[in-house]
Amino acid sequence: MDPTALRAEWLAAIEAAADPASLAELDQRLFGSKGAVVELVRSVTALPKEQRPVFGKLANTVKQEVEAALAARRERFAAAAIERELAAPDFDPTEPGPQPRRGHLHPITIVQNELVDLFTSMGFAWEDGPEVESEYFNFDALNIPGDHPARESQDTFWLDSKHLLRTHTSPVQVRTMQRLTRHGFHPPLRVIVPGRCFRSETVDKSHEHTFYQMEGLVVDKDVSVANLIHTMKTCLRVILERDVQVRLRPGFFPFVERGFELDVNCPFCSGNGCSVCKQSGWIEILPCGMVHPNVLRQGGIDPEQYTGFAFGMGLQRVVMLRYGIDDIRQFMGGDLRFLAQFPEVPR
Ligand code: PHE
Repeated sequence: MDPTALRAEWLAAIEAAADPASLAELDQRLFGSKGAVVELVRSVTALPKEQRPVFGKLANTVKQEVEAALAARRERFAAAAIERELAAPDFDPTEPGPQPRRGHLHPITIVQNELVDLFTSMGFAWEDGPEVESEYFNFDALNIPGDHPARESQDTFWLDSKHLLRTHTSPVQVRTMQRLTRHGFHPPLRVIVPGRCFRSETVDKSHEHTFYQMEGLVVDKDVSVANLIHTMKTCLRVILERDVQVRLRPGFFPFVERGFELDVNCPFCSGNGCSVCKQSGWIEILPCGMVHPNVLRQGGIDPEQYTGFAFGMGLQRVVMLRYGIDDIRQFMGGDLRFLAQFPEVPR
């Protein structure tokens, strides 16, 4: 075997390869398990001892050169392919390339979006309100005067004697009614208000100083508790992706008269009792009630003509039930190992 002659033959063959497929075939013939180059290198063992160093060195050089020639030819094919693509009449140089992964939505945002979709499909409008709220909207307009003990259960962060970080989304009830009636609108009125709220809470597994609520308000002629229950059941069924049972217990909030705590049967044990529902079979999920006449009056609506219901859903609560999360601190903790578990699934 003459390495030099073989080299010339192989390099010529590589040069002559017409397309990537024949090049790959040639590669296989040269470097495959019984490939010609491999055989050449191996043939050194058959030589007398004194010829081995010179032959071995030459054979190795040939091997490297052939390898390099193959790689170069492969690259030229690739470059030619790109050239062809660029020259094609339908090539669009303005089309954006593959986008880098940009992360995904926070689980609270995912569930909030679903709820907003659901409620807008039922004819609700999305309202917004400020996080820095006045004492009037946060308390007084909601039938909670200065000396009312209910203020204490919503202890908050005051900015000055008249302004605070809102303790709930309920202030947007009166804001919305006032804005609409000021412009001459009258009920029917259906709004939801997703938003961030703050309370001076001691943080633990189920309490955060910063949390998310979604307020709902419906005002119309002849709105009843039955309408409230139906709306809540529909909402919970969609968001928990299962049929639900609910029960109402009396609950006190100064801005509703008939106030309720709405419970849903525990999705983890189907109501049999487990640690999540503290063996009761029920999970407290939605404070709600019929809008108090004083609140309607504050909003410029005549309580003799109209009635309404309102609810204040704790969004984290719902997200925790939906995904089986047991610690509310995860939401604000910023731990990517937690957050990366919630890819947004198109539904
Ligand atoms: N705003 C109340 C809270 O945060 C919840 C609520 C809203 C209750 C609407 C009744 C009606 O505690």
